[in-house]
Amino acid sequence: MSLKEMIFKRKSVRSFVNASIGPNSIARIEKFINGIKPLYPDIKVRAEIVDRESVKCICPWTTKQVVAIFTEDKPGALINVGFMFQQLDLYLADIGLGACWLGMAQWEGEKEREDGLKFVMTMAFGKPKGEGQRDDVLKFKRKNMTEISDIQDARLVPARLAPSSANSQPWYFTHEDDVIHVYCAHKGLLNKSLGSTNQMDVGIALAHMYVANEETFEFFVVENPVPVKDHTYMGSFRI
Ligand SMILES: Cc1cc2nc3c(=O)[nH]c(=O)nc-3n(C[C@H](O)[C@H](O)[C@H](O)COP(=O)(O)O)c2cc1C
Repeated sequence: MSLKEMIFKRKSVRSFVNASIGPNSIARIEKFINGIKPLYPDIKVRAEIVDRESVKCICPWTTKQVVAIFTEDKPGALINVGFMFQQLDLYLADIGLGACWLGMAQWEGEKEREDGLKFVMTMAFGKPKGEGQRDDVLKFKRKNMTEISDIQDARLVPARLAPSSANSQPWYFTHEDDVIHVYCAHKGLLNKSLGSTNQMDVGIALAHMYVANEETFEFFVVENPVPVKDHTYMGSFRI
């Protein structure tokens, strides 16, 4: 299939066959990771496939390996990580594996890295036990288009189907000529630290817009965005 088709089929996989993924598949995954498109190319990001024991998590994940993600702590870091690694989530589904973003996992490895990057997120992956994909788009539990956009826009369906932390779907889109602006709903207190995931969620939704419009997707930040109540402006794009 293709990454684009996976937007309409993927799901978070939380049940895995308890077996390691072999070296050939790991090499393919690492090659894909090295080619992922960033939203902010100047932010340094690294991802490492590590043993499950490298992270502490109360959930009963039976994977042998997880992807640990590290980033420079800079403005835009979270949206960038979401944008980059949602492409990996779609790729893993496309090669018949299952994956789940794992915000609740804590890093058990070295605290200070030589490259100075900070641990930010884990993605569990492995061979799914049972069905690893949705067979019907109606099985996605998501907000209506009117809750996430100022107008009905079928082009935003890929973003609407994106996964998010606790399915919070914090994204909101407004339209101005051929430009779409994207905002992030405030989550109680304004979370600006690396610990916050709602900006990562917005990056995840943008990844779906990129994958669905690979040739034309163009992201940029405007100087004076129109404010949207209880939301933070995150950026704008053309497709
Ligand atoms: C940034 C992020 C962190 C997440 N963390 C967890 C987690 O710690 N545990 C978990 O079971 N699911 C986690 N999820 C999965 C979401 O709960 C899931 O994406 C959402 O409920 C939508 O379901 P779907 O992915 O099957 O479409 C996370 C998702 C995202 C995007």
